[in-house]
Amino acid sequence: MDINLIGVPIFYGCDKEGPQFGPDKLREKNIVSVLKKHNHKVYDLGNIHVPKVSVKDKFSYHSNMKYLKPIVTANTNLAHVVNMSIKNNNFPLIIGGDHSIGLGSISGVSSSYKNIGVIWLDAHADINTHETSPSGNVHGMPLGASMGIGHEDLTNLYYGEAKVRPENVFILGARDIDSGEIDLIKEKNINVYSPKEIREIGIENLVNSILDKLKANDVDAIHLSFDMDFIDSSYVPGTGTPVSNGFNVDETKLLLRKLVQTDMIKSMDFVELNTLLDEGDRTSDLAIEILDSVFECIK
Ligand code: ARG
Ligand code: MN
Ligand code: MN
Ligand code: MN
Repeated sequence: MDINLIGVPIFYGCDKEGPQFGPDKLREKNIVSVLKKHNHKVYDLGNIHVPKVSVKDKFSYHSNMKYLKPIVTANTNLAHVVNMSIKNNNFPLIIGGDHSIGLGSISGVSSSYKNIGVIWLDAHADINTHETSPSGNVHGMPLGASMGIGHEDLTNLYYGEAKVRPENVFILGARDIDSGEIDLIKEKNINVYSPKEIREIGIENLVNSILDKLKANDVDAIHLSFDMDFIDSSYVPGTGTPVSNGFNVDETKLLLRKLVQTDMIKSMDFVELNTLLDEGDRTSDLAIEILDSVFECIK
């Protein structure tokens, strides 16, 4: 496979410094050669430009969406690069940065396909809006915005329509969901599975049933969005919003490997590595270990 590595050095979505160093940290950890080991061609497209704005301007664009304008600009740039990458038959691997970049990725991916599915691996649901968000952090909003839910500056990103239908969205690993998000999940009937539910169903059964549903819905490609806080907090000190009661490392690898073995995953985000919070290089080494394991299974 031809992989396009795309870095997005942004922390505005989480309002905590650290994730902007993720892309270069993973390069320093030889992400390119790790991916190449598995017979992929890897083209490192470098980092997407993220406009510099001052902390003073955090709320100057919107009262409950911090750093809205530079987030929209960076995500629009990202969407275009991802769209071009797929049009050229490459696999975009988007390295964050915080999870606000999921919106740009999905906007780019959905421009290249007719009807996409999204599998969102995360301790959080990331479907808040400016009206429901308890934090004002945009990294809690990208998945909702991708479904057309929320403020128009986000929902209209790159092109003015919903990017994915709610029935084609699967949130896996969620265990810290805000009350406004719970209401939305009920209202839109969104598919959410906690780690406990996934263990009960079994990883293999769950992957098979998701794939059956997406195929029945005529989905032509699946975007996989992986937030490092999907993994239990005891393994990932280097992430901004860690949550306990998550999967261990082996379960995480197994789930990811089963997902990519479906051959339907055509793009992937890898986000929320915070190098400033890390204990030594523990979490960035784990990121590399997981990517190594996943890309071994992608043909
Ligand atoms: N639900 C919380 C919020 O909206 C936390 C979101 C965390 N998101 C993430 N991508 N780590 O503020
Ligand atoms: Mn997230
Ligand atoms: Mn999260
Ligand atoms: Mn190997």
